[in-house]
Amino acid sequence: MQKCFSLASMVAILMFTFTGSCVLSQTTVHQNLSASDIAKIDSLMSQMTLEEKIGQLNLFASGWDATGPMAGSNNEQLIREGKVGAILNAYTVDYVRALQRMAVDDSRLKIPLLFGYDVIHGHRTIFPIPLGQSCSWNLKMIEDAERVAAVEATAEGLNWTFAPMVDIARDPRWGRVMEGAGEDTWLGSKIAAARVKGFQGKDLKANNTLLACAKHFAAYGAPQGGRDYHTVDISQISLYEWYLPPFKACLDAGAGSIMTSFNEIGGVPSTCNKWLLTDLLRKEWGFKGFVVTDWTSTNELVDHGVAENFKDAARLALNAGVDMDMVGCTFLDYMAELLKEKKVTMGRIDTAARSILEAKALLGLFDDPYRYCSKTRQETEIMTPDHLSLARRMVSESCVLLQNQNQILPIPEGVGRVAIIGPLADSKKDMLGSWSGAGKWEKSVTLLEAVRERFGKKTQVFYEKGCNANDNDKSGFDAAVKLAMSADYIILALGENSWMSGEAASRTSIELPGVQNELAEVLAKTGKPIAVVLFNGRPLAITKLSGLPVAILEAWFGGTQAGNGIADVLFGDVNPAGKITMTFPRSGGQIPIFYNAKNTGRPFILTDTTDKYVSRYLDCSNDPLFPFGYGLSYTSFEYSNLEVATDVNKITVTVQVANTGSRDGEEVIQLYVRDKVGSLTRPVKELKGFEKALIKKGETKTISFILNTNDLAYYHTDMKKYWDPGEFEVFVGTNSAETISKSVTIK
Ligand code: NOJ
Repeated sequence: MQKCFSLASMVAILMFTFTGSCVLSQTTVHQNLSASDIAKIDSLMSQMTLEEKIGQLNLFASGWDATGPMAGSNNEQLIREGKVGAILNAYTVDYVRALQRMAVDDSRLKIPLLFGYDVIHGHRTIFPIPLGQSCSWNLKMIEDAERVAAVEATAEGLNWTFAPMVDIARDPRWGRVMEGAGEDTWLGSKIAAARVKGFQGKDLKANNTLLACAKHFAAYGAPQGGRDYHTVDISQISLYEWYLPPFKACLDAGAGSIMTSFNEIGGVPSTCNKWLLTDLLRKEWGFKGFVVTDWTSTNELVDHGVAENFKDAARLALNAGVDMDMVGCTFLDYMAELLKEKKVTMGRIDTAARSILEAKALLGLFDDPYRYCSKTRQETEIMTPDHLSLARRMVSESCVLLQNQNQILPIPEGVGRVAIIGPLADSKKDMLGSWSGAGKWEKSVTLLEAVRERFGKKTQVFYEKGCNANDNDKSGFDAAVKLAMSADYIILALGENSWMSGEAASRTSIELPGVQNELAEVLAKTGKPIAVVLFNGRPLAITKLSGLPVAILEAWFGGTQAGNGIADVLFGDVNPAGKITMTFPRSGGQIPIFYNAKNTGRPFILTDTTDKYVSRYLDCSNDPLFPFGYGLSYTSFEYSNLEVATDVNKITVTVQVANTGSRDGEEVIQLYVRDKVGSLTRPVKELKGFEKALIKKGETKTISFILNTNDLAYYHTDMKKYWDPGEFEVFVGTNSAETISKSVTIK
């Protein structure tokens, strides 16, 4: 790793300290700034030396929670010299205040620092992993969860989050699917906007709102083979159609920053992709915030093989549109030399520096650099009963009931001896999931703890681990079977360890790891009712498990309140209504598998097994184990009377949904459309709307959706977005595979 501050660069910086400091006319001004903010920024820009302007372009890590190689260790000195724009991974009021004081008291122009952190699914109160949250289809609750995250993070000094992560992902081998909203672009865009609103609130200057950062721009979720950081090679139409819209949704919701991705697209790494960062992002979309790289992704341009050295990398990144270098030190070390050699312009440096100052002004840091450093807030606004209760509700809304053989769930009243078995039943360390930031695993509630508490003294609850999540040791099987034999009801907690998903956590097999399938099989032989609870950060190929006569509740990693929220569902206090937002394959060999695939010229019709020359596998059916949008309830719903009416540009869809079971329940009613004849091939189905409705037992609700013909538009080969008049199939249903439909001609 390059050391931060070479003598050569020092000399170069000094030589160019006073060049071109007044190129303000080339800069863009953020529309949300007040006149006094603009005056403050103008005044600073006119006083700043080149060295100080370059200083604003550096984001350094405090040393906590590193997710890559570390660069300089002389950060404190650099802060005092005005050579740091932002710090990441530093929080708690005293720590942040001390670092901020170095900038505000000791640096020449007293420019405050930004403090950024990965507040991904909560700060101290940890919510379910984002993929789990997306299964709630509850946009309001997702926004509320981010509001809580922002309140807690800002109570500990932070003012910037590296979230939301809005990468669409269709490959569950990729460990970072846990961080996103699943495979669907339309739903992902809605969730992305909700998250930005939650973080940023109505007023970024409030002391409890965080600057959001949409990441990872772009298409990081499509690495070859599902291997993290790997090459992305997709068509331009796919990029526009599937991967870019959630970013645009973030910007439309006001996100103030965006992070480049590690990957390349079509041979151009994002961190030096001028088309992406300037032409599209700024010119076409009008983005006024700032662009930060991912961790050392500027330096990695050398490994990608597009930059000769770090200096060349700095040139490429800045010229492409990067404003801030995360951890890499390349801007700090080489920007002045590059300017001297006329390889970058003063105008571009000014624009970048100004964009960082604008973010600081938007956050109110020039009015009060310590506005996020309140000891009182730190003591009173973290892990409050309200926050914990929202987290608990979010857990139960994120759970998806995948299977319920013999109505094993909910746990029957008056059940006798209960056995809790499995490696994830009492593993506090695994409850939070990856990217749990400042969350403390010691404070999480496990399934065993929650179930014991719920039963109280009435019912005896016994526990055996059975096996570990990820090795081949079966020595615990006998004790588990013995316990199962003596019990009336078994809760079996299986899945992945939390470290098995997240960054740098791709897997080639997405089956249950270790000997867990075998444990489930031997327990099933006891003939006892078994409710399996799954903890995992990605869709798993649980074909073996689902072949057993068990109930399966997908619980993801639920965070601080995991056990309590799951227990609410197991005991029937909450009727599950979660629906998966990523397809669950039968086998890893089906990947990539997603609901909005193309029909192909040789579609496989499931009932016709004799046809050889069709798009199919010899050894596995095409359909997934559980399709996108799937999830059961303790009650049942029936769909009928679908009507589709068109009027000028408006398409009105109505359907009746009856609760035909014996409990009140919520249902996520999903609307899909297929463009039957397009100028380009179109997916077999595309989600265009949903409603999550509470339907009482015996009740029938009429649900309406209104679409505009623009909702049918898609990118054509000229990269313009419009719709093709003609025949469409409109589907409404309980998931992407079980629908009722009607054809309609729209002119
Ligand atoms: C690398 C990750 O890719 C990114 O998402 C994260 O924000 C940074 N590290 C900072 O931790």
